[in-house]
Amino acid sequence: MTQQRQEKYRQYYQVPDYTITDIELDFVLDPATTIVTAISRVKRLNSQANVLILDGKNLILHTIHIDDKPWTAYREEAGKLIIESVPDTFVLKVVNEINPLKNTVLEGLYVSADVLCTQCEAEGFRHITYYLDRPDVLARFTTCIIADKSSYPYLLSNGNQIDKGETNDGRHWVKWQDHFPKPSYLFALIAGDFDVLYDNYVSQSGRNVTLALFVDKGNLDRADWAMVSLKNAMRWDETRFGYEYDLDIYMIVAVDCFNMGAMENKGLNIFNAKYVLAKTETATDKDYLNIKAVIGHEYFHNWTGNRITCRDWFQLSLKEGLTVFRDQEFSSDLGSRSVNRIENVSLMRAHQFAEDASPMAHPIRPEKVIEMNNFYTLTVYEKGAEVIRMLHTLLGEEQFQAGMKLYTARHDGSAATCDDFVQAMQDASNIDLTLFRRWYSQLGTPLVTVRDEYLAEKQQYLLHISQITAPTSDQAEKLPLHIPLDIELYDTQGNVIPLQHSGRAVHSVLNVVKVEQTFVFDQVNSPPIPSLLREFSAPVKLDYSYTDEQLALLMQYASNDFARWDAAQSLLSIYIKENVVRQQQREDLILPQHIIDAFKSVLLDEACDPALKAQLFTLPSENEVAEWVAIIDAIAIHNVINFIIQKFANEMAA
Ligand code: PHE
Ligand code: ZN
Repeated sequence: MTQQRQEKYRQYYQVPDYTITDIELDFVLDPATTIVTAISRVKRLNSQANVLILDGKNLILHTIHIDDKPWTAYREEAGKLIIESVPDTFVLKVVNEINPLKNTVLEGLYVSADVLCTQCEAEGFRHITYYLDRPDVLARFTTCIIADKSSYPYLLSNGNQIDKGETNDGRHWVKWQDHFPKPSYLFALIAGDFDVLYDNYVSQSGRNVTLALFVDKGNLDRADWAMVSLKNAMRWDETRFGYEYDLDIYMIVAVDCFNMGAMENKGLNIFNAKYVLAKTETATDKDYLNIKAVIGHEYFHNWTGNRITCRDWFQLSLKEGLTVFRDQEFSSDLGSRSVNRIENVSLMRAHQFAEDASPMAHPIRPEKVIEMNNFYTLTVYEKGAEVIRMLHTLLGEEQFQAGMKLYTARHDGSAATCDDFVQAMQDASNIDLTLFRRWYSQLGTPLVTVRDEYLAEKQQYLLHISQITAPTSDQAEKLPLHIPLDIELYDTQGNVIPLQHSGRAVHSVLNVVKVEQTFVFDQVNSPPIPSLLREFSAPVKLDYSYTDEQLALLMQYASNDFARWDAAQSLLSIYIKENVVRQQQREDLILPQHIIDAFKSVLLDEACDPALKAQLFTLPSENEVAEWVAIIDAIAIHNVINFIIQKFANEMAA
């Protein structure tokens, strides 16, 4: 029988009745029968409450004590342990049994290959012990692990190692202490046998941090790049964000048996080996860049996610959108900014736009959730990062960093909301972000339509901008959003025309805040060519009727590489769309000579970065093209893309 699962709503969030400030966990490890003892310091928050309700799944309860006294006033109910008549503050001791071998949901503690390993985000900790398994309960964890020494030479958990020893029956034990309060989803435990790469890092303020990378036996020859990436990430976070590492040891476990991709557990990140191990003989450049990004991502969570965590799971984008933004910036500062931007935007257009247009569509901060595990989406992560990027665009680096500092000062050591984040950005910058907050609640991809007008007698250029987001079943009425629209104007020689109005310079980022709005630019001597949505300054679709000539000019002369690439994409899109129709009508496919010439001139331009050239000649993916047409004809799209690739290959070779 399948159990009907309850929906949870963001608006009904309630502060927990009780909190747990400290927990001592004791694991007697065995693949089939692990005994967990949890000693928690519990505090009442709601004076009206006297029943403590803990989460727990697939647990065999042994005993309960309160303040050292055996406690019988409790009952177990579907997924809950209900303890009655509890005092204001008390020490709760729960002993229970779990079977990691039989744990096939892979949440909580499970056996994989010869390793015992945990995964607790989002609600896995309740598979380990009875607990207030919600992210707004933050406790200091002390964890003692005891296990057979020959099978499990390494016993790892969060924090600093504070003690260890051996028993006289072939077992050993290790005790870990994490003095930073954290929610249960950041708990981790690993027991197994590994090869280890050690290194160390001296932080800005002089803290000496041991770095340890644990890999499956025999994999050390593929571990170096992950370690280099980690050290780069630690340095970058200090210099760009002022965030320093806070424990004496940083551990990474990169093993084949971890079933998820990567997880930011405090001080003990766990990765699937395929995302972080590489050697030059077999890995591509792209593999190396991806490793750098994912190692960075998990490391950056130490502040954005761990030190400051999420109040509830509806706020997931608070940590994920922000941390993706941070890993994108890390990759851009240490590598090619334009190539990174191009790749991130391609992902948005090809996949997040599709998600936004599908029955899966949801706002970056969902309103209702049935199964949290289904919300680790491109919308929460990638669109979430674009929303942070828009804040960065609106505020500029300096004020954005001031906002980060304020956010950190206000919320360090606690659980926050997306609203708290935006509020800190607003308070630090004095920029009104009231309207901007709609990005968190409104789902769907807005369409921004731009029409222009040139008034020769007034030497004026007008941009008429309108925005619309298509209604969806759960949001019939869509409201206008605050869209930062970054633009530039060019003359026909490819020179930038300064933006001005009424004798004053106008910022290149226009604040589009209404359904319809007109922007007027003075002293424009000839009809200009607009470069629109530069850097993909907002996650929107853009509609402007470019001519081939305008796009070819932007592709050659636009002042930034992203705009050049975007012009090339638009140029290709015109002929991809046209050819899809031709293909359907069984007409010959075409690519006019002037298009080929425009691409050829970029290819021959020696000043152009080869990495950019490679991107310019990368056609939009079939997924992305599917977004441009009402009825998706996969075969026609495929044939057209192949045709253009062939045509380019033949023509460019000549
Ligand atoms: N929090 C992880 C990350 O983004 C992703 C993850 C979620 C992993 C849930 C496992 C389970 O880095
Ligand atoms: Zn993450």
